[in-house]
Amino acid sequence: MKVTVIGTGYVGLPTALVFADLGNDVLCVDKDEAKVAMLRAGQVPIYEPGVEALLRRSLDDGLFKVTPSTDEGMQHGEVVFIAVGTPQGDDGEADLSAVWAVARDIAKYICHYTIIVTKSTVPVGTGDRIEQILVDAGVDRSMFDVVSNPEFLREGTALPDAQHPDRIVIGADNQAAAHKLMELFAPLEAPVIITDRRSSELIKYASNTFLAIKISFINAISRMCEECGADVSAVARGMGSDPRIGNKFLQAGLGWGGSCLPKDVAALNKIAADLGYDFKMLQAADEVNEQQTRHFVQRLSDRIGGFQGKTIGLLGLAFKPNTDDIRDAKSLEIIEMLKAEGATIRAYDPAAAENVRAIHPDITYVNSALETGQNADAIILVTEWNEFKSLDLTRLGQIMRRKLIFDGRRVFTPYQIERAGFEYVTVGAKG
Ligand code: UGA
Repeated sequence: MKVTVIGTGYVGLPTALVFADLGNDVLCVDKDEAKVAMLRAGQVPIYEPGVEALLRRSLDDGLFKVTPSTDEGMQHGEVVFIAVGTPQGDDGEADLSAVWAVARDIAKYICHYTIIVTKSTVPVGTGDRIEQILVDAGVDRSMFDVVSNPEFLREGTALPDAQHPDRIVIGADNQAAAHKLMELFAPLEAPVIITDRRSSELIKYASNTFLAIKISFINAISRMCEECGADVSAVARGMGSDPRIGNKFLQAGLGWGGSCLPKDVAALNKIAADLGYDFKMLQAADEVNEQQTRHFVQRLSDRIGGFQGKTIGLLGLAFKPNTDDIRDAKSLEIIEMLKAEGATIRAYDPAAAENVRAIHPDITYVNSALETGQNADAIILVTEWNEFKSLDLTRLGQIMRRKLIFDGRRVFTPYQIERAGFEYVTVGAKG
């Protein structure tokens, strides 16, 4: 099938590559000419495991091309995916300016019947507005259908997620358009949910915000564990073994960050308010999330007698492992708190350091996990990169001023840490 994907970010690029891998003829459109040049040369502007290898293979196979021209994109695609960003705007509302700009371009260049698909996370009613933009621009109604097909892939595991989705949601008010998309997705052999467009748009927000609520729930339980001496991992295991609850997204830690959960919680809260519903549960989840990192840093401050004159090592800066994305990363919050109180910071991340350096050029970025410990009064583990699990704790202990680890993601076991002679404090346990 001839497929066009507009937007080559964390969602658009992996999605396009998976379509190409399935044998479709894929053309990506991105306005950013520098990005287009990089992709044509087989280079990936983001850190996402496996993407570069698949890009090179797809370029070699001739099934993946990229252009800055929407005109070319519209000539090419029978199906055109919109996968541009919908960041947080004013009042928590999703900023849809990129989507509207693409819709106007589509209206300008559409030249044959096209199925226009929203992959970006968009509020209920966005499909209706895209339709209206095209009609207002004089495009005949028989020339297009607008379908919602939300994406559920996660950063860091984008390719396996896109190759093996647990469900495919198609929101279409026209059966023929839905069937065309089913044909495209058929080789993935995933369960398909066909529904109306508005329900599909809401499914995406409901899913992401439910995940945020689930994490905030276990983080609220973690606060109780810290007071009563229970262990949050044991509680999560015990709860999660009930298939009605499930054990995923019950990892207590510093809270949820990233480019999706925070903005989607804010956006759904605004959508609910506009509909006259006060979504208190969502607001509470947000509040728990706000408090989580602050509380953790306060525990550290209490333990070491304030940060003035202290050196703190940070392990991990990305909002989660296997990405260089730092949007709404907990590391940024922590850096701001530590800086405000006069700490010296030594930070390390395998992929995201340069992105943080652009915001905080005044802290020290080191080249290995071990070096964060040089003369440090404590280490905070912020992001659970795999390499931290095999850190040489004996050597780390030898270069630190005080052998203290604050584990924000429950990566280490108390036994492992205490055997190496460290004091150990983690989320959801006394200490
Ligand atoms: C999230 C959703 O999981 C995807 O399904 C969705 O497609 C994506 O948003 C999106 O809308 O594009 P992502 O933001 O990549 O994916 O990352 P997650 O794996 O969901 O993690 C989000 C945050 O929650 C991270 O800060 C992570 O550290 C935190 N988290 C996750 C926990 O604190 N505990 C957990 O048990 C799981």
